[in-house]
Amino acid sequence: MRMKTKDCFAQEVFVTRPNLPSIGELSPLIRKALKRRQVTNFGELHNQLEEGLREALGVKHVVLCCNGTMGLFLLLRALGLKGRVITTAFTFPATVHAVVMAGLEPLFCDIDPDDYTLDADEAEKKLRKDVSCILGVNVFGNPCDIEALGALGKKHGIPVIYDSAHAFFCRYKDKIIGGFGDAEVFSFHATKLFSTIEGGAVTTNNREIYLRLKELINFGIHSEDSVPGIGLNGKLSEIHAAFGLLSLDRIGPVLKKLQALSGCYRQMLSCVPGLKFQKSRPGSKVNNQYMTVEVLPEEFGLTRDQLHAALKKQNVITRKYFYPPAHRYECYSSSGFARSAELPDTDKVAERILCLPIYATLDMKDVKKICGLIRSIQKNAR
Ligand SMILES: Cc1ncc(COP(=O)(O)O)c(C=O)c1O
Repeated sequence: MRMKTKDCFAQEVFVTRPNLPSIGELSPLIRKALKRRQVTNFGELHNQLEEGLREALGVKHVVLCCNGTMGLFLLLRALGLKGRVITTAFTFPATVHAVVMAGLEPLFCDIDPDDYTLDADEAEKKLRKDVSCILGVNVFGNPCDIEALGALGKKHGIPVIYDSAHAFFCRYKDKIIGGFGDAEVFSFHATKLFSTIEGGAVTTNNREIYLRLKELINFGIHSEDSVPGIGLNGKLSEIHAAFGLLSLDRIGPVLKKLQALSGCYRQMLSCVPGLKFQKSRPGSKVNNQYMTVEVLPEEFGLTRDQLHAALKKQNVITRKYFYPPAHRYECYSSSGFARSAELPDTDKVAERILCLPIYATLDMKDVKKICGLIRSIQKNAR
């Protein structure tokens, strides 16, 4: 399709861009760490960040980690689980790989076709004796059915944990995400709205989980003379903590900007036939870190892949998150848990979903232009 030159972007607009501090903001913190000659192993900046997050997330314990995947993996190990873990295939590879790497087997349940979170009714139907944990994903910041999953965990005496990689500063019923279930895991990767460049955290109100994790992220060491746990090196360095402290300071304006951009997308795209937005759980407040649309090909006139390609031609880079869903990864093609998974809604959403560019430094006029492009692609679709 031909676009007028003024409609195109001269340079690529990426789906996300990191929120970075200036070198001027960063250097005093780094300089102090260098002067102290403590650049990792639970230094002052690390401890300040843990404290800041405890306060911001209203949770008793925070364990900072070198990334969210490590946090997930070591949390699963800290819980001493066996057998199967109920989870979703509509997620980033890290969720399911962490389960498998921890020696556990995913038991996939389908998602709600409107909010994309784990279907609690299906989880209840599939729950059996060898299930030792429920792992929900607060996907694109939308909280899971926290009450239903919590009740299910309680009834069966198993922990409920959340992959909250997308859900920093999201809320559910006036409570900030971080203190729900037995523990939650965040990613602080550079693509996230709160970032330590690489990093993550496990948050919990359970002291036992906290103490076990503290050891597991430090090679399983308890004291100079005692190594009771099989742990790894999951620590966050002082340099990464410095980025985190500065990112925490800026979170308010970032959230405000993302909300405005998301509002603009929603307003300008709501009239486009064949585009569906993720539904938020009642009582939730998302952080707008992701701007997703589902492309319904019959009504839109093009498939998701065709829209993805058409936007790419105009230098607008979108992402098919999360496609393929985990039960369709090549690495699990011979695994019984993937082959036996029947997840029609997961497959449907994965075929249609598209993440549009959104990040704090994106100009509103660029969002308007992207919406204009999508409208004209749709109009010319047939
Ligand atoms: C849902 C989900 N879980 C886990 C992760 C892994 O986080 P990290 O990249 O910090 O290891 C990601 C990363 O984007 C994610 O999207």
